[in-house]
Amino acid sequence: MKDFISSVVYDREIIDTVFEASAGAIEASKKYGPENVVNGAFGTYFDETGKLLTFDTVYRAFDRVDDIQKARYAASIQGSFEYQEAVKDWLFKSVGLDIDCQVIATPGGTGALSSTIKNTLAPGETVIHPDIGWGPYKTIAREQSVDIEFYTLFDGEGFNLESFKTVCQSVMKKQGKVVVFINDPCQNPTGYTMTDEEWNQLIDIIKEISEDGPFVLVHDIAYIDYNLKGESYKRIFERFVGLPDNILTIITFSVSKTLTAYGMRVGAQILISANKNSLNKLSNACCNTARGTWSTVNNGGMRVFSDIALDKTLKSKYMEEKQTFVLLLKERADIFVKEAEDVGLPLYPYKEGFFVTIRIDDQIIKNELHLKLKTLNIFFVNVYGGLRVAICSIPKDKLYGLANRIKIALDSLNEPLTENTSENDNTLDNKTSSKHA
Ligand SMILES: Cc1ncc(COP(=O)(O)O)c(C=O)c1O
Repeated sequence: MKDFISSVVYDREIIDTVFEASAGAIEASKKYGPENVVNGAFGTYFDETGKLLTFDTVYRAFDRVDDIQKARYAASIQGSFEYQEAVKDWLFKSVGLDIDCQVIATPGGTGALSSTIKNTLAPGETVIHPDIGWGPYKTIAREQSVDIEFYTLFDGEGFNLESFKTVCQSVMKKQGKVVVFINDPCQNPTGYTMTDEEWNQLIDIIKEISEDGPFVLVHDIAYIDYNLKGESYKRIFERFVGLPDNILTIITFSVSKTLTAYGMRVGAQILISANKNSLNKLSNACCNTARGTWSTVNNGGMRVFSDIALDKTLKSKYMEEKQTFVLLLKERADIFVKEAEDVGLPLYPYKEGFFVTIRIDDQIIKNELHLKLKTLNIFFVNVYGGLRVAICSIPKDKLYGLANRIKIALDSLNEPLTENTSENDNTLDNKTSSKHA
């Protein structure tokens, strides 16, 4: 007999490891008092007093957006004209780049990634992800009935170019086309940022593979505004200009992190290619997806971003305010990373950004440690290959001594259990179904 729901949708209850770990931390805070809990689960920025960070420059500018602008639909499905200009200004013009591109407004970076997968791959085709990456990438692919292959992210302390190349070559051979994700800078969950030389070599690999078919590079820049180099990082986009016709780059941008406006749901896809015909077709397809899925993006959100991006004085005030928190993240990271080194707690190579990940290759030990830490009121997210420590949500005073507490907990684990005890293990680490949390 037929069911109410479609036979092709994924109907298992969603267990989002971030939301699940965060709920545990909230409950423990209520029970034992927030001062006794280390909440390293939230992927949003909390200040030193434990309050969700909201930039004053952003929210006072939002107060000035008039009611009509907040209430109305955006002027275009593609996003308001000033928003499209503001995104180009933010990413390119501010560092002297004049890049011919199409900007399509989306609900957050998630909307941008989802529309990208839907409009570049047919159901049953394969997208390529890093093995250590943001959990919802997998959900996004599954929603479009797209399969996933993984490249190994690290080779020692650096990006694994060899694995990237091998996996892309093999997928190109099988399906005559490649769609691959890179999340850089301030990668989630490790805090790694690729070097200039790694980017140079990556582009050479892409050029070589694109000789055999269309190559779509998806560059997820969700945390770009928290990199330590600052604005000059954005010169990286120059590399996407003048590439062969067979290459199309889609930058996915998230206003959520940039403005500390996660709930506002504003983001963008930025399409760049020398192949204008394909670029226009893809842009049309993405606009159709927008119309048929979310319609238009939050107009008040696009307006406040545009107001800040296009007003020199406001932007420089915002930059100043944001920089304080970029530096605070560095201070937090310095405490944790240095202490981890001192006590011998292994970490993936961290450079900058919201997250550090403890490296634990043995899945059983990792799950055991995750549970053990919960009993100590320490909450992290269980990810492929380790535990993600959201330094964006842990104040400095709770970071002092934390690495040592974790190391003691790790060392205290007895013989690993033979059974897997993770509460949602079937969504984790099972090579075929998931490498993500
Ligand atoms: C790596 C990465 N990409 C994209 C996103 C999308 O964020 P949003 O949809 O809130 O803009 C996130 C959010 O956590 C992320 O961590």
